Amino acid sequence: NISSVASREGVATYVIGGFVRDFLLDRGKPVDIDIVVVGSGIDIAKKVAASLPGKPEVNVFKNFGTAMIKHKNLELEFVGARKESYHHDSRKPVVENGTLEDDQKRRDFTINALALSLNETDYGTLLDPFNGISDLDNKIIRTPLEPGITYSDDPLRMMRAIRFATQLRFEIHRESLEAISAHKERINIISKERIVEELHKILLSPEPSIGFSLLHQTGLLHIILPELTALQGIEEIEGQKHKDNFWHTLEVVDNIAKATDDLWLRWAALLHDIGKAPTKRFDKKIGWTFHAHEFVGAKMVYKLFKRMRLPLNEKMKFVQKMVLMSSRPVVLSQENVTDSAIRRLVFDAGDHVDDLMTLCEADITTKNPKKQKRYKNN
Ligand code: CTP
Repeated sequence: NISSVASREGVATYVIGGFVRDFLLDRGKPVDIDIVVVGSGIDIAKKVAASLPGKPEVNVFKNFGTAMIKHKNLELEFVGARKESYHHDSRKPVVENGTLEDDQKRRDFTINALALSLNETDYGTLLDPFNGISDLDNKIIRTPLEPGITYSDDPLRMMRAIRFATQLRFEIHRESLEAISAHKERINIISKERIVEELHKILLSPEPSIGFSLLHQTGLLHIILPELTALQGIEEIEGQKHKDNFWHTLEVVDNIAKATDDLWLRWAALLHDIGKAPTKRFDKKIGWTFHAHEFVGAKMVYKLFKRMRLPLNEKMKFVQKMVLMSSRPVVLSQENVTDSAIRRLVFDAGDHVDDLMTLCEADITTKNPKKQKRYKNN
């Protein structure tokens, strides 16, 4: 349909971005397909919609020059090929019409700049001016332009690089990683909502520690979640050391990721020890203590959620409760990870958040020794 409409109108169209990448990686069903039109994306979208059965509605975003059609559980996003230039203090580019290659050049990574032709003369041809295929094969995240330009143009891409590296288990090209470290402060022009969206995706990956160590290594983590980097390091007084609570946290997060897909349990695991940095103290008699770190940590969760514009609703309360009983995620990192009760608790968490919250509450407040025993053993 797109092909015949476009050829009738005499404009070239291409599928580009995530769809092509995921198709070549054989990565599940697509939800959205980006289509670049060398001409007006909005006009072609309207004509394509008119030619489809049921004539679906076209959502036009005039300011962005894009148009979207919902068709068979798919979102088709049409955009005119464009050339972009950026001002230093904004994510909003100055946009001009451009060629397909201009459009590929303005994209974040070579693996996201691959285009498939929809034109009748060369239908299905892959257009890959920046060696995206070779980067897909070698599992490399690389920018089409000099990385300093790509990241400075849109600093959210620093988070995206780390997110794709975590989701796909790809490596970030060395120069790219250096550019992220060099431009890390630019993350401050990005909205908290977008940063959190990337953090969610990193947390929902099979091995979230890949992303958090990259965030740490590049210095981004210190800017966005300083509560976590404050946990890093080991101190020694009178021959007594405590563990490095940052690396321990990453281990816990990976363990919990094996047990549950619940995003909020994963957040709870990430934050379960944040009260330890401000409460750390060396006591001559008992050594290192983190007295009441659970309570301090639960308060910190509230502040962190507020700062990151995360919803201050029952999900936040859930994370706070899990932090208050921070032994739960910790237990998962230890040898008794097979403890069936804890496993069940965690597995069920997605479906039974309310039950789990009641359990958490009971666990914290109950003075009944029978009940205490049950929560420990059952
Ligand atoms: N893109 C970009 N810079 C960004 C965001 C997006 O260059 N900051 C481009 C990339 O070519 C990307 C495409 O726009 O492939 C679509 O972006 P998006 O839908 O956010 O991501 P996907 O690549 O589709 O991946 P995912 O759906 O996993 O987020």
